[in-house]
Amino acid sequence: MSTQRPDHSTQAQPEAMPKGGMAGAASAITLATATVEDVDAILQVEQAAYPLPWSRASFLDVLARQGTGCGDYVVQLLWAAPTQKQPKEKAEPAVLQGYFVAQLGFEEMHLLNLAVHPDCQGQGCGWLLLQQLQNWARWHGAHTLWLEVRPSNARALALYRRFGFVEVALRKDYYPTPEGGREHAVVMQLPLQT
Ligand SMILES: CC(C)(COP(=O)(O)OP(=O)(O)OC[C@H]1O[C@@H](n2cnc3c(N)ncnc32)[C@H](O)[C@@H]1OP(=O)(O)O)[C@@H](O)C(=O)NCCC(=O)NCCS
Repeated sequence: MSTQRPDHSTQAQPEAMPKGGMAGAASAITLATATVEDVDAILQVEQAAYPLPWSRASFLDVLARQGTGCGDYVVQLLWAAPTQKQPKEKAEPAVLQGYFVAQLGFEEMHLLNLAVHPDCQGQGCGWLLLQQLQNWARWHGAHTLWLEVRPSNARALALYRRFGFVEVALRKDYYPTPEGGREHAVVMQLPLQT
């Protein structure tokens, strides 16, 4: 399972609970902007979720450029904490369920990474993160959300299609494969009502 949450963060409540009740009814869900302190927790999810994960250096680079006006990256984390009625000192800490990394461009936002820990998949975390991304994009004046996804990633493709993304192009030999080959990328777009 992923690393526990350090004692910091700006928090935002999700606007809607997804199908099936994300991470069960006994969890308190929090969305928070990532900081450099979160990189170990992020890497645990990343390495569990992908055969070819992003490196620590890649995440540190993105985290360092959040909110600096240099590339305008955003990294949002989804934490879950049990809500048993216990004294505060005995309460279990929050655990990182997943995150997204996105980059703001001129009137558009590009999803660069979306990952949910395998232990938490299928509970609506991905959907909730996409809702948060959509809110962020609208808030920052984006008219369109863009992403790339591997054609072999049936779960992600289904999630994006159901969320409203449409396929608009194919980038040939875009991704490396674990076997040393290349795989195309499906380019998807979601128009945003502002
Ligand atoms: C792709 C990934 C992010 C999906 O995350 P997830 O938390 O498992 O996804 P969700 O539980 O939110 O969605 C799963 C299902 O619920 C549906 N769903 C969830 N909330 C919903 C809602 N409120 N309304 C309608 N449908 C909903 C989804 O469309 C999807 O449908 P399915 O049950 O038929 O599969 C996750 O599998 C992952 O991290 N994979 C590895 C990394 C990766 O491939 N990332 C994508 C790179 S492009």
